[in-house]
Amino acid sequence: MTVGTGAPTFVLALPKGRILRELTPLLTQAGLGPEPDFHDENSRKLRFATSDPKLEIIRVRSFDVATFVAFGAAQLGVAGNDVLLEFDYPEIYAPIDLGIGKCRLAVAEPAEMVGEDDPNRWSHIRVATKYPNVTRAHFAARGVQAECIKLSGAMELAPTLGLSRRIVDLVSTGATLKANNLVEVEHIADVTSRLVVNRTAWKTYPEEIGGWIERLRAAAGAI
Ligand code: PRP
Repeated sequence: MTVGTGAPTFVLALPKGRILRELTPLLTQAGLGPEPDFHDENSRKLRFATSDPKLEIIRVRSFDVATFVAFGAAQLGVAGNDVLLEFDYPEIYAPIDLGIGKCRLAVAEPAEMVGEDDPNRWSHIRVATKYPNVTRAHFAARGVQAECIKLSGAMELAPTLGLSRRIVDLVSTGATLKANNLVEVEHIADVTSRLVVNRTAWKTYPEEIGGWIERLRAAAGAI
């Protein structure tokens, strides 16, 4: 946040990739259209002005949105509840479900294992995932110990290359699982994108942060 002599400028952290495309109509509706470079994938800029001089946007990886907001480097952000579940930062409050970025977090395994493999008999399993905390908690709830191998992407490669037989990953259309001969065997959570805010920033600037929340809530309701 930049605090000068006038009103402070707030920072909204947005995730790169497909969510960003779904967010564009919402930003436009809220009167927060970003500068043209924001949509240029070749641009090396990371901070972008919007049509409101009191708000700028940063474009970061989805997991990093939570980190920037939790530490107050960005006062606002958009993050999936997959990311919020994984980090469980007490400093983050998620007041609005934006209803975009719909997908699910699921356990998948090679198609040939289905039928031979009874999940009720698992006691210890190895799982490749970007979500070790959620994965361990999901399995621990029924007494299964999950040994997690942390990856940052392309989890679907793990079973074919022998890294782990199972993965926990986001599934949207199911096309990536299918292309890699994997089958979804357990549902962990439904996922959508949420508006998130830093609690301390909200306490410090209740009118301003409250104003951004209401403006984005109204925009989400209007599209
Ligand atoms: C996500 C996820 C899967 C894929 C699922 O990856 O990790 O790989 O989308 O979508 P589908 O069910 O429609 O095929 P994403 O493309 O967001 O990139 P990532 O691998 O960097 O996470």
